[in-house]
Amino acid sequence: MKQISKSIFYIGTDDVDLDLFESQYPVPEGMAYNSYLIKGGKIAVLDTADARKGEEWLANLAEALDGAKPDYLVVHHLEPDHSALISKVLELYPGLVVAASAKALQMLGQFFPGMDFGGRTLALKEGDVLDLDGCSLKFFAAPMVHWPEVMVSYEQESGTLFSADAFGKFGALSVSGFYGEEEDDWACEARRYYFNICGKYGQPVQNLLKKVSELDIKTIAALHGPILRKDLDQYFKLYDIWSKYQAEKPGVLVAYASIHGGTAKAAKLLGDMISAKGVRVKMMDVARMEVSEAVEDGFSYDKVILAASSYDGGLFPPMYNFLHHLQDKAWQKRRVGFIENGSWAPCAGRIMKDMVSSMRDMEIIEPIVTLKSVMRPEDKPALEALANEIIK
Ligand code: FEO
Repeated sequence: MKQISKSIFYIGTDDVDLDLFESQYPVPEGMAYNSYLIKGGKIAVLDTADARKGEEWLANLAEALDGAKPDYLVVHHLEPDHSALISKVLELYPGLVVAASAKALQMLGQFFPGMDFGGRTLALKEGDVLDLDGCSLKFFAAPMVHWPEVMVSYEQESGTLFSADAFGKFGALSVSGFYGEEEDDWACEARRYYFNICGKYGQPVQNLLKKVSELDIKTIAALHGPILRKDLDQYFKLYDIWSKYQAEKPGVLVAYASIHGGTAKAAKLLGDMISAKGVRVKMMDVARMEVSEAVEDGFSYDKVILAASSYDGGLFPPMYNFLHHLQDKAWQKRRVGFIENGSWAPCAGRIMKDMVSSMRDMEIIEPIVTLKSVMRPEDKPALEALANEIIK
């Protein structure tokens, strides 16, 4: 069992067999459901785990308790990947009290219908301190990071921030390393996790960053991903960029979805034209890319070209799917140009433009470049003009 500080023990579990997190995100490196035990004079269990790992989690808890009885079950976040075992642990430990936000307590019964929580709850609010006799947890509301009931807490003696989903990442700890310090690219899977799970909630994340900026944080213990304790500024800086919807990387993303290659050829030529001007280009075949990865790249650049075929009187579905995901995640503050292709009635450009125009603070580059089936030499000046405009 891992010990994070004098009083804090790790009791979470790895899930390396999970195919899709939230039934939608591929997790080739598995997933960690982090959970902690704080042992002061009083004992608090911090969150539980996904039902898939029930037995293992209960065994970890029993080992860490070493015969002692817990006083509180702190629920930072009620989503079932962390809370599935609440009823089980309450049955096992009759003296245990659930400590959570009023909103979480209000929602609790929805997840455990028929369970009587009477006399076994403690409502927490912003600024409350749970005294564990020798250590203590101070609570901060973090609504919409990622659900409305979320709280984070700060263990005041060790300087540990229990950050709920914030600063989480895809990947089991057996792959990333427990402290993630062996890993050279925390940001890769943390970025994909952030934009797909919390991307819509930039302002709530900003609010949380502001609240915790006053704290002397020595360790970040999220509900997923490694425990972070080195160069913490790097993680706060990235979260600040991401939650402000700023571009993290310089350059232009050229995202294309091409049925028979004609659109791809024009997109690649446009990419070469932009590169020739000394600007970094990232090419992305939307039709062949897992959509959560594509969303991550969509948020990483602030200049984006969308190139797609027309299809069934509409937009080629892989591009529609990509844009629909970006729309859901509040994609904003981007400069966007378009290439459309259509053999008899090109309409992809109008649909992409309408979708992007409905988003916040978007700069649309006109005109849309229209191809008829394949690129011709006479299309090149329009592509060159688009290359000049996007990098402005
Ligand atoms: Fe990891 Fe929003 O649950």
